[in-house]
Amino acid sequence: MTILVTGGAGFIGSHTCVELLNSNHEIIVLDNYSNSNIESLNRVKRLTGKDFKVYEVDLLDKEKVEEVFKENSIEAVIHFAGLKAVGESVEKPIYYYQNNIMGTLILTELMQKYCVHNLVFSSSATVYGDPKEVPISEDSPLYATNPYGRTKLMIEEILRDLYVSNNNWSIASLRYFNPIGAHESGLIGEDPKGIPNNLMPYITHVATGKLTELNVFGNDYSTPDGTGVRDYIHVVDLAKGHIKSLGKVLSTKGIEAYNLGTGQGYSVLELVDAFEKASGQKIPYKIAPRRSGDIAECYADPAKAERELGWTTVKSLEEMCIDSWRWQKKNPDGYLTKAAYMSGH
Ligand code: NAD
Ligand code: UD1
Repeated sequence: MTILVTGGAGFIGSHTCVELLNSNHEIIVLDNYSNSNIESLNRVKRLTGKDFKVYEVDLLDKEKVEEVFKENSIEAVIHFAGLKAVGESVEKPIYYYQNNIMGTLILTELMQKYCVHNLVFSSSATVYGDPKEVPISEDSPLYATNPYGRTKLMIEEILRDLYVSNNNWSIASLRYFNPIGAHESGLIGEDPKGIPNNLMPYITHVATGKLTELNVFGNDYSTPDGTGVRDYIHVVDLAKGHIKSLGKVLSTKGIEAYNLGTGQGYSVLELVDAFEKASGQKIPYKIAPRRSGDIAECYADPAKAERELGWTTVKSLEEMCIDSWRWQKKNPDGYLTKAAYMSGH
């Protein structure tokens, strides 16, 4: 029996593939590489010394996805495949609704048809909108402020309807907080296309000199130093949360949402400071206007995941910074750095 990983070539997917293989799961990966590179999967194979089947397939291509179900004996699906850029989702809502929602509908329809009822879904802390209070627990009010967030919220609701219609389903919706860091080998990491939107990749690009300075989006929030506070979580801790969730999904029936965060918030300036200490690099920055749609503070209450999944984070902010920096230094052009990296320069 095998685990199908959709979007397995991406940032969180590739780290989760490593943890799945290291826990002796058999996997197959489906990805259309719309936001990734097959090289990440080559490196997963190299890192683990294990091989697996990879399908270059778009989730919207139902016939091709069905072939994957026909050819394999799938026990569960971990569903990462989706588009995730908030700004782009505002500009291209149809593209986001089609890709994320249609993709999930096609996937779950085929899961139903082939009697695969175990699903771990990548949701997001974005489903809490601008939270009334922190830390945020799973029963906090849900609402989304942009098309990307609405796709996550709608998919969570679709999955609840699915469970109501057929109690054989076993589903975990994982609400990720802010994943950063990289595998400690420096072989796999986050490889955004173009200028990064998110804070950590922006900082690492400043550290390598690709970008000149960081814009800190607002220092007048009601937070201790006025800059935005987030719950940064090491991507390897997050990947391990998927192994625990898979165990739970395979051993029970039902549908549950879990916060995957550390429970600890850090401000933009605290992250800059931690990165400077961990890397020895100076990060020049200037205070810029607030970014539209940003919230002041967002961090998890991760007690439910600890209680029901037996999962907690172990990696510190320092390790997140060291690992992000190692990945960026070894791969200044992400997975396109292949030639130089492979020859050891
Ligand atoms: P990513 O872009 O690196 O990975 C997503 C992968 O899905 C990519 O490899 C992409 O090529 C693939 N994909 C997209 N649409 C596809 C389709 N139609 N068919 C086949 N493959 C497709 O993103 P990530 O950071 O690894 O995020 C994984 C999931 O977690 C996403 O669903 C994202 O929305 C969610 N999430 C991410 C974050 C974050 O900060 N990274 C936070 C919360 C939730
Ligand atoms: C963003 C997304 C959110 C997604 C999350 C994780 C937006 C509005 N929200 O959230 O939906 O779930 O990423 O992928 O894009 N910052 C700067 N300068 C920068 C970049 C960021 O000061 O160049 C600040 C932000 O204002 C924020 C913090 O750094 O306070 C973290 O930003 P980011 O990494 O983009 O994550 P989120 O805003 O939490």
